Amino acid sequence: MILRSTYSDTSGLQYRLRAASALLGITDNTTKKYVDESGIRVRRANEDDAKAVAVRLFDPDTLFKLAQWRRAKHYIKTPLKGPYVVAVHIVKGGTGKTTTAAEIALHLQLAGMKVLAIDLDVQSNLTQYMGYEADLELKDAEAFNLTSEAVVGKTFAHVVCPYVGRGTTDSVGELIKKPFGEHGPHLIPSDANLGDMEYAVSASKGARELLLRKLLAEAAQGKIPGFDISKYDVIVMDCPPNVSMTSTMALASADIIVAPVRLDAFGVKGLGRLVGEINLLEESYGHNVHPELVILATHFAPQLSRIQRMHQALQAYQKNLAPVSISVSEDFPKSLEHYIPLSLQKPLSQASREYKEFTDYLIKRLVLIEEQRAKA
Ligand SMILES: Nc1ncnc2c1ncn2[C@@H]1O[C@H](COP(=O)(O)OP(=O)(O)O)[C@@H](O)[C@H]1O
Ligand SMILES: [Mg+2]
Repeated sequence: MILRSTYSDTSGLQYRLRAASALLGITDNTTKKYVDESGIRVRRANEDDAKAVAVRLFDPDTLFKLAQWRRAKHYIKTPLKGPYVVAVHIVKGGTGKTTTAAEIALHLQLAGMKVLAIDLDVQSNLTQYMGYEADLELKDAEAFNLTSEAVVGKTFAHVVCPYVGRGTTDSVGELIKKPFGEHGPHLIPSDANLGDMEYAVSASKGARELLLRKLLAEAAQGKIPGFDISKYDVIVMDCPPNVSMTSTMALASADIIVAPVRLDAFGVKGLGRLVGEINLLEESYGHNVHPELVILATHFAPQLSRIQRMHQALQAYQKNLAPVSISVSEDFPKSLEHYIPLSLQKPLSQASREYKEFTDYLIKRLVLIEEQRAKA
């Protein structure tokens, strides 16, 4: 019996040329060209089974390697002076925040960027979407055919608590998980111990709103022991749905805030609140803190008139509205069972295409931010 390092069985994830090209966002011919040029090895179906057709089979690791090779060659335009922070946040549950965080982490990585996703919600949904169960204990791992790597040891509390001079719950294992291996998106998972972070920060003194921002800036220079983020291009944060110091700190550290708004519910109210909070941060901290707000409409189904009305309500936020919406799809809730982001399960689905398009838009926005800063 082979033990796995996450709940997800990624051994089944193999893509033919068309799906692989969709995930990379290039044509089939370009993919073939890149494979030849890079020398990255791609499996053929007839390697294990002589009778099979010799089609290429790309696994996620091969795709991530090709993506990094492509970026190193500058065949894709991305920001180069990261890490940039993308926080997914709105004060409302069930709007698609965690789904969005997981999908953009994945698609940014498939664009060749190095991504660290951080689960900032004690409910640990992002942790699940990436292949881990917060409640799994070390002593039970083997019974589930899992290695100790599958156990959530440390959370982001293990970075933040010592930073504000507080201890954390003892725990073992690595802080940074690699659910799809070295070349895929990395993850700092969460479990109930993440609650220590909110508590430690609330009890600390000074401008707490900027605490995470400062910490990340130091970590980007390799100054925080055990938390060097200098090699990452983007930090994706999945925020909790409630008003908390954690969310405020995430907002204040963000270059871009992605606010998923669910179009089949009354989600627009939360937006007014979020805009207010961003304005307050800017007023308090001036030029240093000016996250850009990007609103992503989710659960979109154009045939429903109520949704059309909602979409109209969003027009008030026109200049912040992303040009792509995410359609409603039953595939999302179903995909959860497999502990794998939907795009890796169904690369040719509309859902995957939409999240890829949205991620491309985010990359363009980050490139613009980088260009503006270079001029300033
Ligand atoms: N576009 C969508 N269409 C249908 N269901 C979705 C969509 N996006 C997310 N979901 C489902 O809605 C539920 C809540 O999504 P989630 O991303 O966890 O929201 P949040 O983090 O805002 O609470 C999950 O079951 C998820 O699978
Ligand atoms: Mg969530």
